[in-house]
Amino acid sequence: MIDLRVVESADGDALHAIFTEPGVRRFLFDDLELTRVQTQEHVDAASAQGGWTIRRDGGIVGLVALRPVGADRELIVAVSERHWGSGAALQAARQAMRHGFECLGLARILATVDLPNERSHRLMARLGFAPTGEGDGPKYRFRRYEALRRSGT
Ligand SMILES: CC(C)(COP(=O)(O)OP(=O)(O)OC[C@H]1O[C@@H](n2cnc3c(N)ncnc32)[C@H](O)[C@@H]1OP(=O)(O)O)[C@@H](O)C(=O)NCCC(=O)NCCS
Repeated sequence: MIDLRVVESADGDALHAIFTEPGVRRFLFDDLELTRVQTQEHVDAASAQGGWTIRRDGGIVGLVALRPVGADRELIVAVSERHWGSGAALQAARQAMRHGFECLGLARILATVDLPNERSHRLMARLGFAPTGEGDGPKYRFRRYEALRRSGT
């Protein structure tokens, strides 16, 4: 079981340790190793936008957020490599999406996944996202996804 807690500025140290893991930064930050200051900028932005830390047994194991993109929201999820393959990302994303559809009244939620990020494509499929197109990112080509309210989440 996991639970979500609204991101706070003080979560920066725990999230920095996760964001700089090789498997996490590879696609989340195009393999750049963030400085502690850069991590804090992301943490403070997530805090302002109502993102959540993902907690397991009281400890922070990841981050999930619905990042504003124009008039839409984009699902962002990152889990420490030590917790991959446990369903933590799936549960966290489902809770965030439920919040988006039921509390924020969103009609759709978007996501963007680099083509080689196979774990994330499997996650998108489990969450009921449908592919809507592709584009070129700074490092990788990516696939765009969309989940509609009542799409099975
Ligand atoms: C993308 C990411 C969040 C996916 O994490 P994940 O652990 O693979 O995702 P899930 O929580 O859905 O776990 C699914 C796996 O756990 C297994 N699993 C075990 N117990 C489970 C349970 N109780 N419930 C669901 N799945 C479970 C599933 O069978 C599945 O295995 P598979 O990968 O062999 O098919 C993770 O790889 C990550 O943080 N990557 C770095 C950041 C990133 O790239 N984010 C995406 C861009 S926004």
